[in-house]
Amino acid sequence: MSAHILAIDQGTTSSRAILFDAGQRVVAVAQEEFEQHFPRSGWVEHEPEDIWNSTLAVCRAAIARAKLAPRDIAGIGITNQRETTVVWDRASGRAIHRAIVWQDRRTAETCAALRAAGHEPKVSGRTGLILDPYFSGTKIAWILDQVPGARDLAKQGRLAFGTVDSWLLWRLTGGSHATDATNASRTLLYDIHRGAWDEELLDLIRVPRSLLPEIKDSAADYGSTLSDFFGAPIRILGIAGDQQAAVVGQACFKPGMIKSTYGTGCFALLNTGGRAVASKNRLLTTVAYQLNGQRSYALEGAIFIAGAAVQWLRDGLRIIANAAESGVLAEAADLNQEVYLVPAFVGLGAPYWDAEARGALFGLTRSTGPAEIARAALEAVCYQTHDLLEAMHADWPEAQSASSVLRVDGGMVASDWTMQCLADILDAPVDRPRILETTALGAAYLAGMQAGVYPGLEELTRNWHLDRRFTPAMDEGVRRHKLAGWKDAVARTLSKR
Ligand code: G3P
Repeated sequence: MSAHILAIDQGTTSSRAILFDAGQRVVAVAQEEFEQHFPRSGWVEHEPEDIWNSTLAVCRAAIARAKLAPRDIAGIGITNQRETTVVWDRASGRAIHRAIVWQDRRTAETCAALRAAGHEPKVSGRTGLILDPYFSGTKIAWILDQVPGARDLAKQGRLAFGTVDSWLLWRLTGGSHATDATNASRTLLYDIHRGAWDEELLDLIRVPRSLLPEIKDSAADYGSTLSDFFGAPIRILGIAGDQQAAVVGQACFKPGMIKSTYGTGCFALLNTGGRAVASKNRLLTTVAYQLNGQRSYALEGAIFIAGAAVQWLRDGLRIIANAAESGVLAEAADLNQEVYLVPAFVGLGAPYWDAEARGALFGLTRSTGPAEIARAALEAVCYQTHDLLEAMHADWPEAQSASSVLRVDGGMVASDWTMQCLADILDAPVDRPRILETTALGAAYLAGMQAGVYPGLEELTRNWHLDRRFTPAMDEGVRRHKLAGWKDAVARTLSKR
């Protein structure tokens, strides 16, 4: 009965392990949070040993909870927070610096200098990305420049770079150095059209080729875990960045299908099939998945603050005790007040890309209270999703006719109020699936298909079941008025660049 699949979901704030059975049902979950380090304003780091230890612990806990032996597990799928950068010593297997997390803005100046020197069109043309500190490339160069002796070690081929998937793979297998095309596509070093590391970009961003992992399909043989970890080896058969894994878990396999995941941030991906559509509206072009050497692409909109705004209501303002209360509070707001929150706490992502902007509240009156602010925070997530979808439709008009439905997942989608608000603001149906563990499910699908225990994409599509569809019900005049207010609030928040 080796038909179970273990999905590792290594995220920004916690590591999770989820065991699925042969019918893709969840049989055990284990989760562990780990420490976040903020050494300076705009800097975010993780201890690579924390990432590793918490991952190993949750894998062991999930396997024990399900009372399974390694022979019961046909394969492991890894999905991970993307872009976060680890550089380690190949001989010792120890990281030479803390992981620099995707949210970290320390290389903003380097990116600005590259932009000023006119490099962005070439970089965007090849990688589908923009020159922003969000991505791995400039973070790698920073580590090599700042850690004494690192550039020399790199020259001698003694260092390895990886996004978190590669770091975990190296540790689990005792030295396999690989990644998949989705993770490679977030580095600024990978040509998404040719499917290869790009020598010219490596020179430009000053990353030696010797550091880089081999790039494989998202469903592939990545090696086996060392026996020490689980008592016997288990094969690792799938890897994908977490947002791309959610595309797979949401069965968005057809061009035109869109999913949006509401975690710390919000990441909306529109499947564009075999065509890498270049954005004219500051969206990203990224690899959605690579199977049998064939790349499927997506247009991506990345918002840095979504669930984090609800966390702010809870931990910063202390106007709610838990996330679930946010919708209830928002529902009680006075509808005559027009309060807007622009949650630019760490700048604004797509389609604005303004690293210097900071959050702002507009429209406060003496009767504004917690309910109006909670409502403004949840509405901001909906408005931002609207901005992304508007940019997607402008970049790829076919999307409008192909599908106007948005598939959603992530913690925030549990709130019916927020999902109805989203449907209203988008003026489009919002579909919430029965399984909300879509990121882990996507990683499990990839590994399960490779192991031969899960069916192909078509059958997985039939496995997607609707929990609830939210249908737009807002008066068009009201919607337009609210969107105009939001656009005005954003315009007043952008930094004077
Ligand atoms: O690009 C960053 C994204 O992969 C982070 O996802 O869910 O760990 O916040 P999450």
